[in-house]
Amino acid sequence: MADSKQAFVTGYPIKHSRSPLIHNYWLQRYGIEGSYRAIENSPDSFPQFLKTLHEQGLRGGNVTIPHKEVAFSLCLKRDAAAEAIGAVNTLWFDGDNILNGGNTDAYGFAANLDAQMPDWDAGRDGAKTALVLGAGGASRAVLYALLQRGFEKIILINRTIERAQALADHFGERVEAHGWDKAQGFVGRADVIINTTSLGMSGHGEVQDFPLDLSHAKSGTLATDIVYIPLETPFLAQARAAGLRCVDGLGMLLHQAVPGFEHWFGVRPDVTDELRQIILADILKA
Ligand code: ATR
Repeated sequence: MADSKQAFVTGYPIKHSRSPLIHNYWLQRYGIEGSYRAIENSPDSFPQFLKTLHEQGLRGGNVTIPHKEVAFSLCLKRDAAAEAIGAVNTLWFDGDNILNGGNTDAYGFAANLDAQMPDWDAGRDGAKTALVLGAGGASRAVLYALLQRGFEKIILINRTIERAQALADHFGERVEAHGWDKAQGFVGRADVIINTTSLGMSGHGEVQDFPLDLSHAKSGTLATDIVYIPLETPFLAQARAAGLRCVDGLGMLLHQAVPGFEHWFGVRPDVTDELRQIILADILKA
């Protein structure tokens, strides 16, 4: 195993991560001799873990909560997405053995929509407008993706308006921050509506009705959630009932894994329906 390609996912806790299932599926599919495993690191042990990746025979890996910001500060080079988002979720060594950090969440978000709804970023009446609900870590990746795809106006709604305003200041004048009291007024203007809040996420309290009436959305509006447990969130259920085009969040998880696998194992893997079914089955049995 000494020469084989080894990668990891680390977080705290890490036992619920589905990344090993994804990468081991691809390793098998492409007949690559390698491994990808979950390694738990507390905030105390994480910096030393990163410094000794080479000694451990690790080519790189994924970083998840709560280490994404520390990983950002500890790697020597970062890609443009990581710089803009302020967090690193993928690590690899380049040809000079320098530890690089990237953020693949924005890529995963856009690639999932490209796969499920190819015209999602076309803008039906010229200007493209997005309504983004939530201003946490995941929202940063979504905002970056939308800006990269040329959205002219992004309305950012958050319960804590200061957090939304901080993101609007960071990402520039195309992003406009508002509280939930203004959200309803923007529903009819959006081409894409994205829920990045934890409202309706399994384990975060029951939400019967998502606090937004989507029935006045323009026809053809796309609704997507970054939460994938449950697959049909209260937000998506409401959007579907209102006749919106819906894309669930599971594909983002699968697509964000693609660039890392390519870095460590040298093959750009496909997100197949078989992979989606494997992850879905695992979610359902949990
Ligand atoms: P992540 O990094 O996954 O985005 P987060 O940083 O905890 O997670 O952000 C969760 C998001 O859900 C935030 O936008 C949060 O709003 P606040 O910034 O005001 O906390 C939002 N959220 C969580 N519970 C909510 C609730 N009951 N009503 C409205 N927004 C909620």
